[in-house]
Amino acid sequence: MILTGRFSGPPIVYVLSAIFLLILTLVLDASDITESSRLFLRLSGRVAMFLLFISFGASALHRLFHASWSHYLVINRRYFGIATGILLWLHFLLILSMSITAPEWFEASVPWFILIPGSLTFLLVGLMVLTSNGYSQRALGPATWKRLHLLGGYAALVSFVGEYLLVLFLQPLLLPDYEFVTANSPVLAYSLLLVPLSLLYLRLRK
Ligand code: HEM
Repeated sequence: MILTGRFSGPPIVYVLSAIFLLILTLVLDASDITESSRLFLRLSGRVAMFLLFISFGASALHRLFHASWSHYLVINRRYFGIATGILLWLHFLLILSMSITAPEWFEASVPWFILIPGSLTFLLVGLMVLTSNGYSQRALGPATWKRLHLLGGYAALVSFVGEYLLVLFLQPLLLPDYEFVTANSPVLAYSLLLVPLSLLYLRLRK
């Protein structure tokens, strides 16, 4: 398969990271930094969710389909996982940068009860990226390494579910003055909520 032969291993991380940075520079617009940042947050959040689906869900997908594409995902899940983490960190760094570029928006839209659990997830995801190599795997030992990667993967998964529960149901209670663009397209919002829920189902089914 062309895909398997040409786009495998570390180049997955290099190429995807270059694309993320290109999109960031194309999307950010100094004349409306708040809205352009929000657009990048939506894009990065959604793409990271699909990348988590194919990396954290690779083995479950292969058990289900036994196809060459799912085998490709299994052998490259580390690299898709690292790309997921890099994109989530761009999401996080952009949010933090908005405390300087859009301080009023930040103060009104990023309460502590979202910032603290979100930051913990980004921290775990960052640790996953830093330890996604053979040296760290040996240094931590297989059991600790696996525990860290399960914890980080599930923390990201639960955060994605939380994001769409917030957009669809919890916003009036938790962020009464905030308007989620995605809430205007309920079909899209429900479809996006189905992505992490399907991943959870895939991971938990025997
Ligand atoms: C520090 C905490 C976080 C803050 C303040 C934050 C903030 C935001 C903002 C402002 C948006 C754009 C929403 C809009 O106005 O349209 C967004 C989108 C998104 N975020 Fe985050 N985020 C946080 C953590 C996370 C985490 C931990 C995840 C998942 C691992 C995540 C996943 C997403 C997703 C999937 C979207 C796209 C939502 C959509 O389709 O409308 N976020 N985030």
